[in-house]
Amino acid sequence: MTSDQPPYFNIDPDRALRDLGAPFSTTRFREVAEACARGRSDLASRGMDAEGRKSLRLFSTWEITRYLIPVATPHFRRVLKANPELPQGRSESDGGAKWFTLDEVLRLRAHFAAEGSKAKEYLPYRPKGQPAKMVAVANFKGGVGKTSTAAHLAMSAALDGYKVLVVDLDSQGSMTSIFGGRVEDEWQTVFPLLARHYARHLRADNQLRLDRGEAPLPLDDTLSEALEVKAGDLVQKTHWPNIDLIGAQLNLYWSEFQVPVWRIQSRGWKLWDALTESLEADGVLDQYDVIFLDTPPALGYLTINGLAAADILLVPLGASFLEFDSTGRFFDMLHSTFASIEEGENMAARALGREGLAFEWDAVRAVITRYDGAQQGELASLMQAYLGPVLSPERQDFTALIGQAGEQVNGIYEADYRDFNRETYVRGRATFDETYAGFKRLLLATWRRDELADQEAAE
Ligand SMILES: Nc1ncnc2c1ncn2[C@@H]1O[C@H](COP(=O)(O)OP(=O)(O)OP(=O)(O)O)[C@@H](O)[C@H]1O
Ligand SMILES: [Mg+2]
Repeated sequence: MTSDQPPYFNIDPDRALRDLGAPFSTTRFREVAEACARGRSDLASRGMDAEGRKSLRLFSTWEITRYLIPVATPHFRRVLKANPELPQGRSESDGGAKWFTLDEVLRLRAHFAAEGSKAKEYLPYRPKGQPAKMVAVANFKGGVGKTSTAAHLAMSAALDGYKVLVVDLDSQGSMTSIFGGRVEDEWQTVFPLLARHYARHLRADNQLRLDRGEAPLPLDDTLSEALEVKAGDLVQKTHWPNIDLIGAQLNLYWSEFQVPVWRIQSRGWKLWDALTESLEADGVLDQYDVIFLDTPPALGYLTINGLAAADILLVPLGASFLEFDSTGRFFDMLHSTFASIEEGENMAARALGREGLAFEWDAVRAVITRYDGAQQGELASLMQAYLGPVLSPERQDFTALIGQAGEQVNGIYEADYRDFNRETYVRGRATFDETYAGFKRLLLATWRRDELADQEAAE
């Protein structure tokens, strides 16, 4: 065997057989799963606090005055000195930089907003009386950066001072583990909200059945139990003071089987309204500024619920032929899915002389992720030419700063900049800040549109 031959020549079947191992039985899957679980908790335990909770790093004066509160460093120091009741931070060495928790940063921001110059944007724009904006991040192609985009946007919005809720609709639970969520079973996911929505529909439907002299459909234990659940019961705190979570885990996948069964049982159930109406009914939309929905790489019932609930839809994709191609098909599926729901509803609505159903999103944007300017510039320009304004002009660069971190630190905003070369950090952070800026433009514009529409309606 000569070494310049490719590795797939001269493979000896007998040697290969010796390395093969016994055939795989079903139980072996469990063994592998258990080994993964052990490894995972080992990884997860590194960098956790005593109770095994994730903790967020501290923020330095440099970072606060550069990224978080628009004040000059000397002024920031003066204000702290003049107000000893404000958080003063802590330093690792005498005269060293001062570090603050995010909670403290939020208190400082509130102080500047109350006392500082009114001309400065200490608090981000949030029109009064408008509900939270719901943002779904979706694409049926896997690994395109949905979770990373949603997590980074949630963190940037939180750093910007918004109150954020993250809803994990993916039974893989990646978003949940980024935010250190603990989910025992499907009862701590959105599942009971979908079940409750159906149960309420079924109760109303049963009344009609009784009126017609028909037998009512039974509410089984699941549905009766779901009627007791409130969205607030499902919300968990995270290691970010202003990010809350409704988590997911594997059992959430059960919804994909259960929902169609309910739908067949009672045709009139508007399953696509389940998530929005449940969150709305429980006042969740008034408690937060922005709600991010991370969806699985599939156009299943959970994704459809997330998409239907969304005001803003972001579709991440890489600047590669395969991802462009498959994203085109994703839009095609969005069209056929929602058009067929509208058609089905509108046939019934017309028959009853009622107003029809027309889904509407405030804004839909494709977002290029993991962008490599040196290799992908041409393809990205081509995509821009074909997609026009639907493709967000901010391209999120590929950065080694994310993805390589472990369980404790997720993404650029959780990483401590002292672990990186300052230049690398500033560039890596800039690309996610750009993504956020692009998103924030949409957020502000859509809120403003609603605010103006309400004003006009009131006149
Ligand atoms: N800007 C980026 N630079 C470098 N790596 C990235 C970037 N964005 C995402 N990644 C990496 O790409 C991989 C896939 O990202 P992510 O999990 O966010 O995709 P996804 O669409 O949510 O996947 P799934 O379809 O499985 O839910 C991850 O390993 C992530 O760390
Ligand atoms: Mg994901």
